[in-house]
Amino acid sequence: MIEPSDLRMTRIPLNHGAGHMPALGFGTLIPDAAVTITATRDALEAGFRHFDCAERYRNEREVGEALRAGLAAGGIAREDIFVTTKLWNTNHRPERVEPAFEASLDRLGLNYLDLYLIHTPFAFQPGDEQDPRDQTGNVLYDRGVTLLDTWEAMESLVDRGRCRAIGLSDIGLNELLSIYESARIKPAVIQVEAHPYLPETELLEFCKENGVVFLAFAPLGHGIRPGPLEDPVISAIAARVGKTSAQVLLAWAVQRGTALLTTPRTEARARENLNISALPEDALEEINRIQTRQRFNEVVKTGSPGFIPRGR
Ligand SMILES: NC(=O)c1ccc[n+]([C@@H]2O[C@H](COP(=O)([O-])OP(=O)(O)OC[C@H]3O[C@@H](n4cnc5c(N)ncnc54)[C@H](OP(=O)(O)O)[C@@H]3O)[C@@H](O)[C@H]2O)c1
Repeated sequence: MIEPSDLRMTRIPLNHGAGHMPALGFGTLIPDAAVTITATRDALEAGFRHFDCAERYRNEREVGEALRAGLAAGGIAREDIFVTTKLWNTNHRPERVEPAFEASLDRLGLNYLDLYLIHTPFAFQPGDEQDPRDQTGNVLYDRGVTLLDTWEAMESLVDRGRCRAIGLSDIGLNELLSIYESARIKPAVIQVEAHPYLPETELLEFCKENGVVFLAFAPLGHGIRPGPLEDPVISAIAARVGKTSAQVLLAWAVQRGTALLTTPRTEARARENLNISALPEDALEEINRIQTRQRFNEVVKTGSPGFIPRGR
């Protein structure tokens, strides 16, 4: 378990000497283009140094614009931030991986990535339509490519120095194991939903034993209420330690050894979500004893993400 004196500064080492990931990450799944720009700029200014993007969020240009302006204004070097983006399901065919990667990099206006993730283990029909469906609305999957085929194309991006680390998202333990065992370059990071209602303890243990960073999305349960933000155990601890429920949930996530992503849209929220302090051991144990179990995002079942900006 990581218990640094200042949780906000926690940086988690990546395998293969690929540097460190700041544990507190800013997620860019924001539907509105203008809000994407202000929220990204505010997050950088508040102190976030880890930015999570995706081809599927359709706002890499806005994130890149805000990052470049923020780095220049704040005198911050590119090497001082950690940037991730993700390969979408329609680009799993090996010959589509590098073009998709380069297109993301171009939209972000960067010349390398710290981390590139396979967004979900589901391959969709290749093409420009991100959400291919048949006439009855069923997702069109691509049965002609395996996750390992896609992984090998990701490995070649690392070989050529285009990105420092590669990983997977929305993956369960069995799929992770099969890639982990076959991979020449082992996954450095997995990004999955995790919070006290979905602790994913077995997956986290595997990651710790094998040097894979466990990066939690929805550490606040996507902000859905009722949910972890309103859980009576969390609220009581928050009152006791003089923090907000969000800060308690984020501290718990970092202290159990995960990195995390949140999406504050205002500077005040960004500062709140960074301003976390270590919880006492008894509080961590109380949170670990919460019995409620709930998954808020169904993406792991179909590859179709909820919470996607529509219509841009
Ligand atoms: N790999 C995947 O499939 C996947 C799926 C989903 C998300 N992600 C990544 O994970 C990132 C994080 O997403 P998330 O939904 O987990 O973000 P989150 O910040 O944990 O949850 C967002 C919700 O929490 C609320 N919130 C944020 N800070 C709060 C605070 N201090 N107090 C109370 N409410 C607060 C927000 O409210 P407001 O609306 O009022 O701001 C919003 O409704 C995304 O941006 C994306 O990068 C990845």
